[in-house]
Amino acid sequence: MGNGIAQVAARAGFDVVMHDVQDGFLQRGLGAIDKSLQRDVDKERLSADEKAAIISRIKATTDLNALSGASLVVEAVTEDLKVKTELFGALDRVLPPESILASNTSSISITKLAAATQRPDKVIGMHFMNPVPVMKLVEVIRGIATSDATYEKIRALTEKLGKTALDCHDSPGFVSNRVLMPMINEAIFTLHEGVATRESIDGIMKLGMNHPMGPLALADFIGLDVCLAILRVLYDGFGDPKYRACPLLRQYVDAGWLGRKTGRGFYEY
Ligand code: CAA
Repeated sequence: MGNGIAQVAARAGFDVVMHDVQDGFLQRGLGAIDKSLQRDVDKERLSADEKAAIISRIKATTDLNALSGASLVVEAVTEDLKVKTELFGALDRVLPPESILASNTSSISITKLAAATQRPDKVIGMHFMNPVPVMKLVEVIRGIATSDATYEKIRALTEKLGKTALDCHDSPGFVSNRVLMPMINEAIFTLHEGVATRESIDGIMKLGMNHPMGPLALADFIGLDVCLAILRVLYDGFGDPKYRACPLLRQYVDAGWLGRKTGRGFYEY
């Protein structure tokens, strides 16, 4: 999702530094940006010159210190509390004190991430949806210490990115995934129990509820490891067994069948 966020910010006119731990990941991200913008060039919604200008505003680096001049960092690393808190601690040391640290986490507590820094008032959740260039929503999450000034700046920035900011309090899974993941998990249970085929389950939700994708295809799109991680946050956060992950989901993740990104999930790609 990081490349989608970088693309949207550069398209809105911001200078962007895209950071990752390996050059290969950065090249893959830049490739995705190129492909996504090219769709708009092909549809004559963007000129080739505009596309080149957007790409020129994005610098890719594996050096965290290259972020030292950033007024905002949007973190979009793996959905793992330890990885995220370590990164927040490191970013806190690199960034100027006035900079804002946002997380694109899909479920992890913003309050916990903020506690890993010396600037909890400047830590906030900016939860983008996939595919970022297409989806209009940014779920904006305030941690317990997030200041009004930080919140107002992020709301205004979200509008500048051409997105709609909708807020919620810091609670496991926020609103989006607290509602979405139980639906996906239940769809996996229906598959697991042999209630219907994958095509029927997805078709019922597409044709019957007008969803653009069925829940199993959507799980593959999001990543089955990400779905499992979010369900674990819900299960641990609420202590309620209704959020327990379907054994079939756990088994697929154990097998390395993580969805589109690995070529196999509930479907083959
Ligand atoms: N970059 C730019 N544009 C893209 C794109 C991308 N990566 N992917 C699709 N598009 C554009 C296409 O160009 C097309 O644009 P126009 O209609 O304006 O010409 C439009 O999106 C539709 O694309 P397609 O016709 O290729 O395919 P589609 O109609 O099947 O739509 C989809 C694809 C937009 C992904 C649609 O299936 C969809 O909305 N799916 C649900 C997505 C969703 O639920 N996302 C949220 C996931 S949850 C999450 O992200 C958060 C979390 O925490 C887990």
